[in-house]
Amino acid sequence: MTITIIVATDQHNGIGANNQLLWHLPADLKFFKQTTTGHTIIMGRKTYDSIGKPLPNRQSMVITKQPNLKIEGVQVFNAMADALAACDVEKEVFIIGGAEIYKLALPLANKIYLTKVEGIFNADVFFPEILTSEWKETEHTFYPKDEKNAFDFTLITLVRI
Ligand SMILES: NC(=O)c1ccc[n+]([C@@H]2O[C@H](COP(=O)([O-])OP(=O)(O)OC[C@H]3O[C@@H](n4cnc5c(N)ncnc54)[C@H](OP(=O)(O)O)[C@@H]3O)[C@@H](O)[C@H]2O)c1
Repeated sequence: MTITIIVATDQHNGIGANNQLLWHLPADLKFFKQTTTGHTIIMGRKTYDSIGKPLPNRQSMVITKQPNLKIEGVQVFNAMADALAACDVEKEVFIIGGAEIYKLALPLANKIYLTKVEGIFNADVFFPEILTSEWKETEHTFYPKDEKNAFDFTLITLVRI
């Protein structure tokens, strides 16, 4: 199974504040949608609450410690291992955050789609350190800011060495 993390961070690995994203970047959201559509996405309960609904055309899985949480249109699990065990081994599964779930998934992941946003934001949750000894960059595309996207960002693909 390919376990792929998809995340957007600032220059200090910040990913969110007050259970929201730190920026609105339609070009990055488009990449997220294109990349994850048709696949299973695994997220923490807080990220699910932040989004507020299952994302269309994807199988949503939510991880929680709550024993009886039920969410319509979503598969709920009490452990990352249980969610992964319910995924099709032939397919790529996407870990979409947030910080607690990225921490659980980083040691298991084979690939990372990292959007590195220029700037330092007032984050209260962070992506764990990516050790350069464990990951190799295979793609790198710069997106300059424009009238719809207020910040420069770079889309980076990392694969486990
Ligand atoms: N920039 C990005 O790419 C990106 C992507 C996604 C999210 N975010 C941001 O990240 C923030 C949310 O991240 P977060 O770290 O606060 O929350 P989170 O990782 O989305 O969810 C945390 C929840 O997951 C459950 N959980 C955590 N560890 C578990 C375990 N070992 N077993 C079972 N369940 C477990 C718990 O749910 P219960 O409390 O229900 O037990 C916990 O409260 C928001 O600001 C969001 O906007 C950013």
